[in-house]
Amino acid sequence: MDITPQEWRTVLDINLNSVFYVAQQSARRMLAQGGGVIVNMGSSNGLMGYHYYADYNASKAGVIELSRSMALELAPTIRVNAVCPGFIMTPMQEAEYTPEMRRAFENKLPLNKLGKPEDVAALFAFLASDDAGFITGQYLVIDGGELISCHPRIEGSYLSSIDKSHYWGLYKHAKPSHPPAEEVEIRDLAVYQNLLEGGAL
Ligand SMILES: NC(=O)c1ccc[n+]([C@@H]2O[C@H](COP(=O)([O-])OP(=O)(O)OC[C@H]3O[C@@H](n4cnc5c(N)ncnc54)[C@H](O)[C@@H]3O)[C@@H](O)[C@H]2O)c1
Repeated sequence: MDITPQEWRTVLDINLNSVFYVAQQSARRMLAQGGGVIVNMGSSNGLMGYHYYADYNASKAGVIELSRSMALELAPTIRVNAVCPGFIMTPMQEAEYTPEMRRAFENKLPLNKLGKPEDVAALFAFLASDDAGFITGQYLVIDGGELISCHPRIEGSYLSSIDKSHYWGLYKHAKPSHPPAEEVEIRDLAVYQNLLEGGAL
């Protein structure tokens, strides 16, 4: 709620508008030369909500859909894909997380470690290579299993350990009549289905 118009513009400019302009210029040259590959930098943040990062999340969701739309328009001459990293230990992340926070994240991720820039570079190299010649319009997640573990019903999952109300926040957004998070506790799928069938959700 506290994002200023200037902050919003800055994040969208750096993360999304820049990607569009560079990709557009690149595509024009690739079309002229008869082929090419574009790989854009998305994020797992563009695939699910994280509180306090609305500007960043929106910019990365934009990169993903930009990549899919470009892939359609530019096929068959140019392939376009997006890479969506989770936690990768770069200067950006080192500036944001204390060693304690980092260890806590590592312990919650299924692969028990954060990614390295080299992991992401390898995926970019693969997508740019002819080995990926049948892949276009995709977003490829590289996150140590973070997204598959992000569900409040999974005991000890990344999301359940952080803030369960976040998930309900998303649900309430889709259906405003949803009861407040504290009034509903989901224990297993059967309970969830009963609540759904009983109209509580
Ligand atoms: N590190 C992660 O966990 C992670 C996860 C998902 C996505 N990403 C994405 O990966 C990309 C690189 O991030 P990183 O983690 O390597 O961060 P980083 O801080 O290490 O690198 C960011 C780079 O962007 C450059 N930059 C910043 N503002 C710029 C501007 N206005 N114009 C030109 N260059 C500018 C910086 O000089 C720096 O080289 C970003 O798009 C980020 O959103 C990173």
